[in-house]
Amino acid sequence: MAKLKTSINLTVSILLIVLATTSYAAQNNSGATENLSPELRQLLIKEMRAIEKAMIKIIPAIAAGNSMEIANIANNIEKSYILTASLTTKQKNELQEKLPLSFLQLDEKFHYYSGMLAHVALNKKTELVGFYFSKLLESCSNCHSEHAKHKFPNFIVDDHENAHAH
Ligand code: HEC
Repeated sequence: MAKLKTSINLTVSILLIVLATTSYAAQNNSGATENLSPELRQLLIKEMRAIEKAMIKIIPAIAAGNSMEIANIANNIEKSYILTASLTTKQKNELQEKLPLSFLQLDEKFHYYSGMLAHVALNKKTELVGFYFSKLLESCSNCHSEHAKHKFPNFIVDDHENAHAH
């Protein structure tokens, strides 16, 4: 038992170190989409605005326990997003080439959570609807804080401020 605990502790420590290093590295490469071609970047921005509207629209459906509406909106969020939308092959390649791996992974998570939200809504698992909605929302800020600081400067961490915080 004690041995198991130690190895869990070790795993957690390693994870923390990895997380700390990744977020440190991310501080230096904000604006992953800034090197995309202007058309592709415009498409992405358009999709982002649509996603935000959908996230706002889903709130009253959750409050009303309207499972069908929740599932519909969540499905649209999942499908409408640029990386699965009907892009030309050239544009798809451009995304794969120009966007960093962590962006693509965060996008995958985003899809996973919107898919799960639709799924649990259809199965009327009310408490899980709240859970997956919050995970989905968290996936917005996770990606923005790493890859869209140029658009959302609130996520810029002031190292100087941090150093004096305690
Ligand atoms: C995998 C990464 C990723 C995820 C997940 C993501 N975004 Fe974004 N979002 C971006 C990037 C990058 C930009 C900045 C685009 C640019 O300016 O080039 C952006 C910009 C935006 C904008 C600003 C668009 C404009 O008017 O310029 C909104 C609004 C937005 N996102 C909403 C959301 C919401 C809501 C979610 C979650 C439901 C979300 N995003 C999830 C990467 C992401």
